[in-house]
Amino acid sequence: MKAETSVPVHEIIQNRRSPRSFNEAAKISREDLIAILEAARWAPSAFNGQPWRFYVGQRGDEVFSQILSSLGEFNQSWAKAASALILVAGKTTRGDGSPHADYQYDCGLAAAQLVFETHHRGMIAHQMTGFNRDVAHKVLTMDADTTAVVVIAIGVQDSHEKLSGPLQERELAPRSRLPLNEIVVKGLPN
Ligand SMILES: Cc1cc2nc3c(=O)[nH]c(=O)nc-3n(C[C@H](O)[C@H](O)[C@H](O)COP(=O)(O)O)c2cc1C
Repeated sequence: MKAETSVPVHEIIQNRRSPRSFNEAAKISREDLIAILEAARWAPSAFNGQPWRFYVGQRGDEVFSQILSSLGEFNQSWAKAASALILVAGKTTRGDGSPHADYQYDCGLAAAQLVFETHHRGMIAHQMTGFNRDVAHKVLTMDADTTAVVVIAIGVQDSHEKLSGPLQERELAPRSRLPLNEIVVKGLPN
């Protein structure tokens, strides 16, 4: 379902969504994978600090299994069919040892750019925080100053009929957002 907006917005904003039905036979090309990582790399960040670090797994390889093992049971049940699982982690300290106060914000921006490039390339992306950060830290042997922020499942969308029960219901559920007049606290144009 397309996003309903009061005035037109970019088609990626309008059409992007977070499906859970992934084509379990689809592979991601090197070109697509590099492009979505480039999109993330070119995100803006506070003081150009670039605290993001990426752990990239493709279905069938070791990193994919490691990231998958950190996901909660519900997320594992559908994300295992993704072509790639990308874990975005952040450096919590700068090179001089001072805290990287904005690392989560910066990682969110990188993830957003990664998601938009994915959709631009005709694939789908589904972000998850339903995973165990400690498990991810351990299985991916992250540095002590690195914290997992989000996991993103990337792949090719499949029919909702491939899902069953509550998963299929969620796939078909209408998408909704709070209205602008609830989220713009002051200054919404008439
Ligand atoms: C930071 C973040 C964490 C999320 N975690 C999960 C998750 O663990 N499992 C899941 O199925 N969906 C997860 N989602 C997907 C959201 O539920 C989804 O983006 C939201 O319902 C809006 O739907 P839409 O993306 O299709 O517009 C997450 C999304 C974000 C941005």
